[in-house]
Amino acid sequence: MSLLNDLTGASPALNPRAVLLRLGAIGGLVVGAAGAFAYVGGWFSPGTLTQARIVDRFERVNGPHPGFRRNHAKGLCLVGRFESTSRGERLSKASLFAAGQITPVTGRIALAGGQPYAADAATTVRSLALRFQLPDGEEWRTGNNDIPVFPVRTPEAFYAQLLAAKPDPATGKPDPEALKAFFAANPESATAAALIKERRITSGFADDTFRGLNAFQFVAGDGTETPVRWAFVPGQAETAESAAQTARADKNYLFDEFETAVRRAPVRWHLVASLGEAGDPTADATRPWPAERTSVDLGTVIVTATEAEADGNCRDVNFDPLVLPAGIAGSDDPLLSARSAAYAQSFARRAGEPKAPSAVHDVPAAGAGL
Ligand code: HEM
Repeated sequence: MSLLNDLTGASPALNPRAVLLRLGAIGGLVVGAAGAFAYVGGWFSPGTLTQARIVDRFERVNGPHPGFRRNHAKGLCLVGRFESTSRGERLSKASLFAAGQITPVTGRIALAGGQPYAADAATTVRSLALRFQLPDGEEWRTGNNDIPVFPVRTPEAFYAQLLAAKPDPATGKPDPEALKAFFAANPESATAAALIKERRITSGFADDTFRGLNAFQFVAGDGTETPVRWAFVPGQAETAESAAQTARADKNYLFDEFETAVRRAPVRWHLVASLGEAGDPTADATRPWPAERTSVDLGTVIVTATEAEADGNCRDVNFDPLVLPAGIAGSDDPLLSARSAAYAQSFARRAGEPKAPSAVHDVPAAGAGL
């Protein structure tokens, strides 16, 4: 067999012209695939906002932190389960809402922002990301923040806001003129910022409410679609700030308090869906839905253990909001596809980088090591 036959796997031997044609076709495929990647990456459209540009802007604003998420960089992994109340069964065919269903869950609590070693602060936006592992390999991944609405309506506004809110190294605060110009161009963000500022700041993660903010659709067995927004509402009472927190001696006090709380007893959140009605905005996460909308308690997330970020746990997961099981679908909210694309870009970059240890370590159990 000739060398050319070895390369093409063809047998019997082809004439040289046929081989050239085949190699040309393969070359065409390679160029086509590269072109498709370049197109998706936005290289042919320099004015267009792409996932690469969004993630570049995170890096410009926060500086380089190889191996870490470009946003919500400081975090701690969770392990637990979800117990269904069965009240979601009529709204969504997702198996996790079926009567008696218990679904394994892993997740991550985190602080918004791209600084993996920032000191915990009461007013930093907190997040709860969860990965529900349903039977038959289906998954539901969801990222939720402890604010009532999202500060921007579109990916373009997100991109502009990242730069406008960048702290000035001289003052540690954003440039007031840049912020003013941003709010003038995006008045819905000014209204949202006021709602976010008014929110109640709880003492920690365990007594905080985390919201999906974007609208989704629940799809029932008979095909009926219901617009929903969900929240994870704490199952434990609000706690007062501890002396340790007040002293702020511990740079990781929010995470350490949460680990200690989980060690004492499982931490619970009710998954509550708010059902949208005609006219409720599904494509504008800056606007809340009326508080009187019907809400349904779908079940309880029960966190039984925490784990510092490490190889193979929540550190290496992309909580893409469009990883959804049958029975939950996306909406016309333009942030959803932008999030999905930007998270994939952040994940791809960090997955290929060397890893430094997370700022949040396992807190030794009381009495351990004495
Ligand atoms: C266009 C808008 C948005 C952009 C560009 C964006 C960007 C990002 C990026 C790049 C990450 C890091 C992903 C990774 O490396 O795994 C991230 C994490 C996260 N985002 Fe967004 N985000 C957007 C909107 C939102 C909204 C509306 C929410 C609503 C709650 C949200 C919640 C979260 C959460 C909870 C995480 C942390 C997930 C984890 O712990 O891994 N984001 N975001």
